[in-house]
Amino acid sequence: MSTPPVWVTRRIPEKGLEKIRGYADVEVWEDELPPPREVILEKVRGRQGLLCLLTDRIDAEVMDAAGPQLKVISNYAVGFDNIAIPEATARGILVTNTPGVLTETTADMAWALMMATARRIVEGDRFVRAHRWKTWGPLLLLGQDLHHATLGILGFGRIGQAVARRAIGFSMRVLWHDVVRTEQMEATARELGAEFVDRDTLYAESDFLSIHTQLTAETRGLIDAAAFARMKKTAIVINTARGPIIDSEALYTALKEGQIAGAGLDVTDPEPIPDDSPLLTLENLVICPHIASASVATRTKMALMAAENLIVGLQGQRPTNLVNPEALERSVSHR
Ligand code: DGY
Repeated sequence: MSTPPVWVTRRIPEKGLEKIRGYADVEVWEDELPPPREVILEKVRGRQGLLCLLTDRIDAEVMDAAGPQLKVISNYAVGFDNIAIPEATARGILVTNTPGVLTETTADMAWALMMATARRIVEGDRFVRAHRWKTWGPLLLLGQDLHHATLGILGFGRIGQAVARRAIGFSMRVLWHDVVRTEQMEATARELGAEFVDRDTLYAESDFLSIHTQLTAETRGLIDAAAFARMKKTAIVINTARGPIIDSEALYTALKEGQIAGAGLDVTDPEPIPDDSPLLTLENLVICPHIASASVATRTKMALMAAENLIVGLQGQRPTNLVNPEALERSVSHR
């Protein structure tokens, strides 16, 4: 039996690659940087499987360049806004993601950013390294308390709920908002004593607003000037979801003019953030290079899950983490 040809768009943890090698004929893009567009278009040709990253835009052009034998696109991420799902579905290509395994690690990062921003950890580190620490100071680098503050969660899915759960230890009041309200969400909210509120109330009452929505046409630019205008001057906004959910210009103005106190971003728009972005001039912004899921254990689990999704799809079966089940009816393997 011939092994299915697969392209992996970047080196992922070895355990995942080993698993794929056991089943498929794998080529990996070894560069540290993402493959340029023309390389993607060339390398996908003739492949039955593609394992890609959130940095790769996988649209109709790429799917057509691959050819009609392409069965599975396995995304090494829980978010899949980089893939044109309707185009994949129309071609019967299965698209999978890596949900669940990165929930707790991402929630940890949201908290790390909240604490770093509220307690001015990065500023403090810069201060010491600049040899400016001369004495203990009653007014030195005063920040904000997390304990007993109000935490607002925008998007109460797996990660939003995991962030809320951690707030119990800090005796926080927890508010949440989501466009959908499932029984599972309501049950978690009851268990945590978290209160559902409308979006404007969430903006107005949160001391910390943590964003956990998907990036969709509806959420693109959702946190705009009007949203910042509703927030407390002491509010801190945290984004570990997707950069474009926040309007970057509005964020800059809000931080610069003191409409809010600070922000902690693991994601930006665009990524990477341009060197000349005015946001990088602000002291009240903590920024990281999209590393919320970047623990050794979690990235390894993601690699194994993405590999499993890919292999199962190549075998003509239904992968556990299929994001477009409608594609099954049209898929090459089920024809
Ligand atoms: C995801 O999985 O969507 C994260 O942004 C990266 O782990």
